[in-house]
Amino acid sequence: MKVATHHLRCTECGAVIAGSAVNSIFRCPDCNGLYDVIYPWSPNTGSSDANNSNLPNASALRWLWQERRTSTLPLDQSGVWRFRDLFPILENFDNAVTLREGNTPLYDLPRCAKAIGLNWLAAKHQGMNPTGSFKDTGMTAALSVAADRGFEWVACASTGNTSAAMAAYAARAGLRSIVFIPEGKIAWGKLSQSMDYGALTIQLKTDFDGCVRILTELVTRFPIYLLNSVNPYRLEGQKTPAFEILEQLDWQVPDHIVVPGGNLANSSALGKGFIEMHRLGLISKMPKISIIQAEGANPLYRWFIDSNRIMRPVTADTRATAIRIGNPASWRKAANIIDRLGGWCEQVSEQEIALAKAQIGAEGVGCEPASAVTFAGLKKLVALGKVAPEERVVLILTGHTLKDSQYTIDYHRGELLTEAENAQISAADQALHTALRKPPIVLEPDSDIVLHALESHMKLSVTA
Ligand code: F0G
Repeated sequence: MKVATHHLRCTECGAVIAGSAVNSIFRCPDCNGLYDVIYPWSPNTGSSDANNSNLPNASALRWLWQERRTSTLPLDQSGVWRFRDLFPILENFDNAVTLREGNTPLYDLPRCAKAIGLNWLAAKHQGMNPTGSFKDTGMTAALSVAADRGFEWVACASTGNTSAAMAAYAARAGLRSIVFIPEGKIAWGKLSQSMDYGALTIQLKTDFDGCVRILTELVTRFPIYLLNSVNPYRLEGQKTPAFEILEQLDWQVPDHIVVPGGNLANSSALGKGFIEMHRLGLISKMPKISIIQAEGANPLYRWFIDSNRIMRPVTADTRATAIRIGNPASWRKAANIIDRLGGWCEQVSEQEIALAKAQIGAEGVGCEPASAVTFAGLKKLVALGKVAPEERVVLILTGHTLKDSQYTIDYHRGELLTEAENAQISAADQALHTALRKPPIVLEPDSDIVLHALESHMKLSVTA
């Protein structure tokens, strides 16, 4: 089946090229800009097709996507490829590589909502993907393009989740994969995944930004397909959670989406999804998209509050290792989405991230630290009046809680934060931490002792 009907457009100078004409670093040779994948229904294509009745029909799409949920075809069972009508990026859909990604839950978070005075709050849990992070939705798309174009080697630089996803999908497709990760700066669960899925794992003695630099040089010297999020096909998969959120809310558009920001591609991928749905008449308005960064890795936040709007890379440091990124490749795309959809950018401290993660965990949902920045940031957006109590907000939880269990254990044992960090926590937040911390209790195997411990614990819970 020959279906590809897309082009690539430079997000800086607007040059349009065929998908197959892109260079190995996915940058415009004239202005170094990144590309977007465009279709006849993309806004500002200048195409006369824009008003053409050949464009996908909104009601037919809704019906088709719903129908595919009952199909036994692997592509239909994927919560990404189920929406393939809106990303015809393969010459041959038989080359699609799927682990049945997507179709992730949208959980309501009533206690978190109440804690910050919102009527309703939900979390789209992208950590419930096959390798435990949102990266699977992008990887299934871009790695399928690599397979479709006959590449043998694929590679990425990663803070851990992209590498886990790439290794899994490459193994599935029978391609060979190389992972570049910053030595000692990623969570062990993620490192173990890339080894388990058989990638060549290279720990470089540098940070994430250094890994990106080395890999960018390498792909110009060896025929490796680059799978970092500068690859615009990644974003085509990562836009599909926007479609799912709408399905899950009976096509009632939420007011606000809150996303963590690291290399800054995901926010624009979701934004692209909403913009395309709007264009096709699937929705009549668009949500705001706000991006939250960790204080120690906050270049977009600095750009946002800078009156001259200059982007200055930072040396990144945060325990939320997934977003420990100081020189984000896709910052302009993220900035455009904030401006276009009217969102906001905030930063949150290590203490705020830890508290937000514990609060999400206490809802029985859980997530990795980088995902918890969304709730921590939302608290600030509410306090600033950027989000009103009646507004419907969806947090994007990007990674599973098991991705970084060491962080969780350290938190509950009271060993995560330094004394100096603890000293900065307000009395109100300190009380929340105390109520949320559940360190394990070590006891002798004697039922009297256990019962006694249980009774004292219950007394404590009543007084708390
Ligand atoms: N949340 C998690 C769990 C991540 O792994 C990442 C990025 C982000 C948020 C930020 O998304 O980069 O699109 O702004 N992780 C990349 C990686 C960098 O290598 O796994 P972004």
